[in-house]
Amino acid sequence: MARLLQLSFFLLVLTRFFHVLTSNVIYSVTFVPCNPSSTCPQGNPPAIGHTFALNGTLNQNLTASINEQLRFVLDTNAPDDPFTVCQRSSEPNFCSGTTQSDQFSLPITLTGNTISVTFRTPGIYYYGSSKHPGMGGRITIYTSNDSKSASINANGAEHRLSVSIFFTIIVALSIVVFH
Ligand SMILES: *[C@@H]1O[C@H](CO)[C@@H](O)[C@H](O)[C@H]1NC(C)=O
Ligand SMILES: *[C@@H]1O[C@H](CO)[C@@H](O)[C@H](O)[C@H]1NC(C)=O
Ligand SMILES: *[C@@H]1O[C@H](CO)[C@@H](O)[C@H](O)[C@H]1NC(C)=O
Repeated sequence: MARLLQLSFFLLVLTRFFHVLTSNVIYSVTFVPCNPSSTCPQGNPPAIGHTFALNGTLNQNLTASINEQLRFVLDTNAPDDPFTVCQRSSEPNFCSGTTQSDQFSLPITLTGNTISVTFRTPGIYYYGSSKHPGMGGRITIYTSNDSKSASINANGAEHRLSVSIFFTIIVALSIVVFH
């Protein structure tokens, strides 16, 4: 029993440790009205006059470093303007017209849907509506000093996390068996 408690504690400490290493920034995404002559981004269709806001800031431009996970949680329904994160787009398109191969996840439209992305290559990316221009912002990804990975891989952080949990379980089991 004591050993079981020891094991649980060990697992807990290790998973927390790896969780801290995997930095994770969350954005609440809402689809809100904007003013066509001021607050709407360039390219926004005047007939729509709505755009995406991140934590309440319209068309916020983001910066992050590679290997940092960005998690976007849709907090309003956006049935006519699916939210997406993409590469190889431009301003003022902000992902409008991108195909699935340039999107980091299928576009989302329902409250509670999320997209998690970990960028592996520095550069400029975008978020916005897959259907209409002028509804998004820019995501600038910087290199961090400790990694030179070159491939783009959505959800990479989650993958790393599950690999480390698996590793932890193996180590913990061998301690229990060989102790
Ligand atoms: C955005 O808001 C959520 C809560 O709604 C919070 O957890 C998160 O830390 C905020 N993100 C940033 C970058 O401030
Ligand atoms: C985001 O960056 C673009 C390009 O520099 C700029 O036009 C736009 O005003 C910025 N958005 C915000 C909310 O600052
Ligand atoms: C990390 O990168 C920054 C900016 O490029 C640089 O100023 C700093 O010296 C680097 N640190 C190390 C330890 O390489």
